[in-house]
Amino acid sequence: MDQSQAPLLDALLDYHRNNRYGFSPPGHRQGAGADDRVLAILGKDPFRNDVLATGGLDDRLSRGRYLARAEELMADAVRADTAFFSTCGSSLSVKAAMLAVAGGDRGGLLVARDSHKSIVAGLIFSGVLPLWITPRWDSQRHFSHPPSPEQVRAAWDQHPDAAGALIVSPSPYGTCADIAAIADVCHKRNKPLIVDEAWGAHLPFHEDLPTWAMDAGADVCVVSVHKMGAGFEQGSVFHLQGNLVDPMRLSSCADLLMTTSPNVMVYAALDGWRRQMVEQGHDLLTAELELAGYLRSCLAELADVMVLEEELLGKEASCDLDTTQVLMDISATGTSGYQAADWLRENCQIDLGLSDHRRILATMSFADDKRTADRLVDAMTRWRVAAREFERPPSIQLPSPAQLQLETVQLPRDAFFAPSELVPAADAVGRIAAEQITPYPPGIPAVVPGERLNDGVIDYLRSGVEAGMTLPDPADPTAQQFRVVA
Ligand SMILES: Cc1ncc(COP(=O)(O)O)c(C=O)c1O
Repeated sequence: MDQSQAPLLDALLDYHRNNRYGFSPPGHRQGAGADDRVLAILGKDPFRNDVLATGGLDDRLSRGRYLARAEELMADAVRADTAFFSTCGSSLSVKAAMLAVAGGDRGGLLVARDSHKSIVAGLIFSGVLPLWITPRWDSQRHFSHPPSPEQVRAAWDQHPDAAGALIVSPSPYGTCADIAAIADVCHKRNKPLIVDEAWGAHLPFHEDLPTWAMDAGADVCVVSVHKMGAGFEQGSVFHLQGNLVDPMRLSSCADLLMTTSPNVMVYAALDGWRRQMVEQGHDLLTAELELAGYLRSCLAELADVMVLEEELLGKEASCDLDTTQVLMDISATGTSGYQAADWLRENCQIDLGLSDHRRILATMSFADDKRTADRLVDAMTRWRVAAREFERPPSIQLPSPAQLQLETVQLPRDAFFAPSELVPAADAVGRIAAEQITPYPPGIPAVVPGERLNDGVIDYLRSGVEAGMTLPDPADPTAQQFRVVA
């Protein structure tokens, strides 16, 4: 295919050239109706390019096929059979994939327990039974990595009637599963593998990055182009190949969740990014990988800062690592990742990708350069000096891997919609959670509705909040009370 084309961007250019005008939404009329104070900050261009997708950019029957052609070009660029654009993030795309594979009563879905909260939301919406795959747990550093092929095989042995399997790779820390071997395990049973590759949009475009799910034989994969690519926030694509998932079914499941008013700028940015990656991606990503190496070596010079790399690879850890995710363990400083993130934002106007009780993560982009990398090194050098004066953070009571593995006793949907009550933490032990509770970031729920709460997890969440953890989803974000099934 002619990858130099960008049908959606060209259509937008034509829209303006032809002086089109819609007696239709959006009501701001390409900015004419927008308040001057809004325009002073946002500028006129976002409004000018915010046009109706169907019956605006394209005609009422989409005869220009701008979106369809952009999706075909994307699929071709990343070696998939089909690609679908979404303007509601991977949060929507992953739900569409889950519904397509396991919606209705089809034996449940094998789901890695280190999944993102959007997957748990998908379980609640769909009523699909989760059959958990245990992730790999690093008990020394207290975090998990994607499951191994053996763990996926064990889950299949236990639940042979499941409709398919879903794993997350790369994890938000950049650690990756052996997708090819896992796809093989699934395909031996003639079952599809969905990969939540929200953090992997850039993977198809460089051989030194971890394996791209489509190359590794996954059936469906979901990417957030806004994370590791140059899409606008919410720009996501899901890709499909093979014959285990029906493209019509996938598209009609997405249709159930999709907005009827997609933002054309989100679509157009996906289109332009694909062309950019095909034409220049390899060079841009080579430079990014080199820059990440440089950043890693500078940060490793800081006292008590451990830039993780080898520790994340190997038998008990992950199969591969995206080194553009620069993960640092700062526990030896005696201060927390939350304190570091707050200090860097307050004093250096720098925000980090992730922070927790002992880690911080800098997510690199191909748009970074030596200047931005040096800015981070400089800020981190200043933080290291300032951190000597930080108060020791309250300690978090970390549960053992066994305690973290809560027993599922009810369908997530049934527990979420069941009559519920808020009870004090002390009374919540042994009760069934009616809400999901997610330390964010990284966004992996510690509690899924339908799981029986135990004291280890409750103490972890309560002490976590005291130390700076954010819980965006429970009824009581301070973790003093828990919403449980009545
Ligand atoms: C693993 C994973 N899956 C899915 C999502 C949701 O992606 P989005 O923000 O594009 O909706 C995220 C977001 O952080 C994520 O980390």
